[in-house]
Amino acid sequence: MADLFVDLRSDTVTRPTAGMREAMATAEVGDDVYGEDPTVNALEAEVAALFGHEAALFAPSGSMANQIALQLLVSPGDELLCDADAHVVTYEIGAAAAYGGISSRTWPAVGADIDPDVVAGMIRPDGYFAVPTRAIAVEQTHNRGGGGVIPLATLRDLRGVADDAGVALHCDGARIWHAHVADGVPLIEYGGLFDTLSVCLSKGLGAPVGSLVVGSADKIERARMIRKRMGGGMRQAGILAAAGRYALAHHVDRLADDHAKAARLAEAVAPFGVLATTVRTNLVALDLTKHTLDARALAAAARAEGVLISVLGPRTARLVTHLGLDDAAIDRAVAALPRILAAS
Ligand SMILES: Cc1ncc(COP(=O)(O)O)c(C=O)c1O
Repeated sequence: MADLFVDLRSDTVTRPTAGMREAMATAEVGDDVYGEDPTVNALEAEVAALFGHEAALFAPSGSMANQIALQLLVSPGDELLCDADAHVVTYEIGAAAAYGGISSRTWPAVGADIDPDVVAGMIRPDGYFAVPTRAIAVEQTHNRGGGGVIPLATLRDLRGVADDAGVALHCDGARIWHAHVADGVPLIEYGGLFDTLSVCLSKGLGAPVGSLVVGSADKIERARMIRKRMGGGMRQAGILAAAGRYALAHHVDRLADDHAKAARLAEAVAPFGVLATTVRTNLVALDLTKHTLDARALAAAARAEGVLISVLGPRTARLVTHLGLDDAAIDRAVAALPRILAAS
């Protein structure tokens, strides 16, 4: 039976597939706080290798993975630079300040269109009279930036900026898999550009829970302590890690299908002048500033037609494709959304 709603709110709404549940049910487990869960250990080794780093650490959420990484890179009172729309300063409830004592300063929200010279110009030097910049964080792909992909050349320039200033570079790679599929950049190439990455298994990859912090062996050893301090040490977590390993094996290449579905949605709404950015991956950002409907009204009208979308601001909405949506679901959304936008 078809689902009652076509759920385009987020790629976090997916449920484990039968194959994934089977992998979870048969996972070998142990106490991961003792370092004895073989499935977690295998997942951590696998993800570290994918990004060409020495080590990785399994964490309960993308937010915790980001915050562990930021605490590794920035001491209390020192400064993180990121963009004003970055997840780390928008949706993590002030965690960098609350848990890490980290001061954050942002460049204007430009999604994936980062100008490395702007970032370079913001870096404050070490000294007793100003807040020293210790790290730069970028988001690949960019959530509020409509799933935009930061080009490899920009990332290389940012690496140069970070090296010149002696600061670290972190990637919030919750959806780095989507960037890899969209731009064909090997994960290991992305990995080589960052001091730390956080990567999520529970977004487009469809696992129920889990993210990893990736970095050098000494950083990940410290990360293990920070995770425990934050209450993120899990016991027989191999049940969850098994879902992640299954997702890595089966759900990366298929992201191209989610991107194609997002492109169909974008094409359907484009004539109404509401596309905020060019759609490259699985997120479709809608800018309703020129439309008679605001985001809440659009979401309510869509819901009445059986389509769920996210409201990100008064005139900002978001559609997201994921592995829980088949072609028939996208057909329903592609029929409903233009009807609503045309009628208002
Ligand atoms: C770009 C980005 N980073 C981090 C996160 C945090 O992930 P979690 O919800 O697992 O804390 C999200 C969640 O949607 C995200 O979109």
